[in-house]
Amino acid sequence: MMTISRARLLARSLAGCTAIFAVAACSDNSNGSGLSPALVDKGKDIFRFETFGDETFWTDTLRMHEVIEHAVDPTTALAVGLKVDTDSLPPEVVSAIQSGAISLTDPATTVALLKLNAVVGVKGTVQNVNGKDTLVRVGITCALCHSTVDNSFAKGIGKRLDGWPNRDLNVGAIIALSPALPPSAKAVYNSWGPGMYDPRFNFDGKNGPQVIPPAYGLLGIHRITSTGDGDDVMYWNRYVGVTQMHGHGSFDEPRTGVHVDNPPDIISPLLPALQEYQLSLNAPAPPAGSFDPAAAERGHDVFNGAGQCSTCHTGSLFTDANIHLHSPDEVVSEPEPNGAPSYASRSATKMYRTAPLAGLWQHPPYFHNGTAATLEDVVNTYDAKKGLNLTTQQKADLVEYLKSL
Ligand code: HEC
Ligand code: HEC
Repeated sequence: MMTISRARLLARSLAGCTAIFAVAACSDNSNGSGLSPALVDKGKDIFRFETFGDETFWTDTLRMHEVIEHAVDPTTALAVGLKVDTDSLPPEVVSAIQSGAISLTDPATTVALLKLNAVVGVKGTVQNVNGKDTLVRVGITCALCHSTVDNSFAKGIGKRLDGWPNRDLNVGAIIALSPALPPSAKAVYNSWGPGMYDPRFNFDGKNGPQVIPPAYGLLGIHRITSTGDGDDVMYWNRYVGVTQMHGHGSFDEPRTGVHVDNPPDIISPLLPALQEYQLSLNAPAPPAGSFDPAAAERGHDVFNGAGQCSTCHTGSLFTDANIHLHSPDEVVSEPEPNGAPSYASRSATKMYRTAPLAGLWQHPPYFHNGTAATLEDVVNTYDAKKGLNLTTQQKADLVEYLKSL
């Protein structure tokens, strides 16, 4: 039998080649992924810094620039899960933060960080008004929810990790700071908590927040989102860019009746590069020593055998998503918490996609609604709901295997 690490390496190197476009995709590129390095580079900039003009919403409608300018010092920003990118900070700023010469409890420092483009996923325009640096426009980018930092400087401050979901980010609490929202909407936003966001609430008025998922490990997967609504990443990027970030462009989905037109179309020409960048992001390998290899090896057998996991989590991508989706009654993550309606019922497909599993160690909690806090919870949920009768040893081994993916 092939060892797990070899199998994983092989799976990774094949990931770009196992897809339908196998031959063409693999022969034209030296790194084997079939991706264009120039497009990936362009997409990285879009992912990190492009707002698609959504300042018209975050500034003109929600007036977040006023909130930030007056009430959000860096300590508050870090507390709601915003991240600071040290690569954008000049060395003298880094040492001034270290020595305490720059105050982290002064909103002016947040404005200074925005001026340096150092707040991950938040794009500010700072102008000198009457001798004072003033935040005049603010918008958000994809990196707000789908990047974090490695905490190498301090908690929340470090180098960017693109594609890693920001599970500290309390998007709801941030939106609820807007002076433009009625109390009923604020109550919903404040109910979500860190790492959660409901990308359909503004259309159907239902409150069922989703775990912010990784934007890595998607190469070769042709069903996007937990309900497989799109055939490619671009589909969902257009949805989020136009309907959630409120960038400029249009989105039409007859299956859910969502039609938004917000001219001019800024987003369409940027979508191919944006997708290419996400497809270039591999799931991060588990840290050395983070799992027991012998137990993981045994857990692999449980995954393929007594656990019946590989009936749906098939192949090198651990998902049968490219072939079919699953109805909610086959899936162990419903009912939804807090009496929320089935998330599938709110989607275009009314089904769930078997989740890909690479990089699992990195992004608890699990399932679309975050109902499993740990991998132990995942395994116990399957054991109970599918009547697997796994032994304590089998469950422990299966968890070690999941940690190794
Ligand atoms: C406010 C937070 C937020 C922002 C901003 C955001 N997303 Fe997401 N993203 C989510 C949530 C929540 C989901 C889960 C939706 C679902 O599964 O139904 C998601 C899903 C995705 C997925 C699907 C992943 C998968 O496994 O299929 C991709 C890809 C993605 N987002 C990329 C992007 C890109 C690119 C942007 C910028 C255009 C963006 N997101 C902006 C919160 C966000
Ligand atoms: C009937 C098909 C099916 C079987 C069998 C199955 N899964 Fe899943 N699995 C899914 C689907 C569908 C999802 C997505 C559910 C959701 O988003 O709520 C999922 C999600 C998961 C997740 C969460 C991934 C994430 O990113 O949050 C883990 C972990 C997982 N499964 C592990 C397992 C293990 C371990 C087994 C065997 C004990 C197993 N699955 C058996 C279909 C299946």
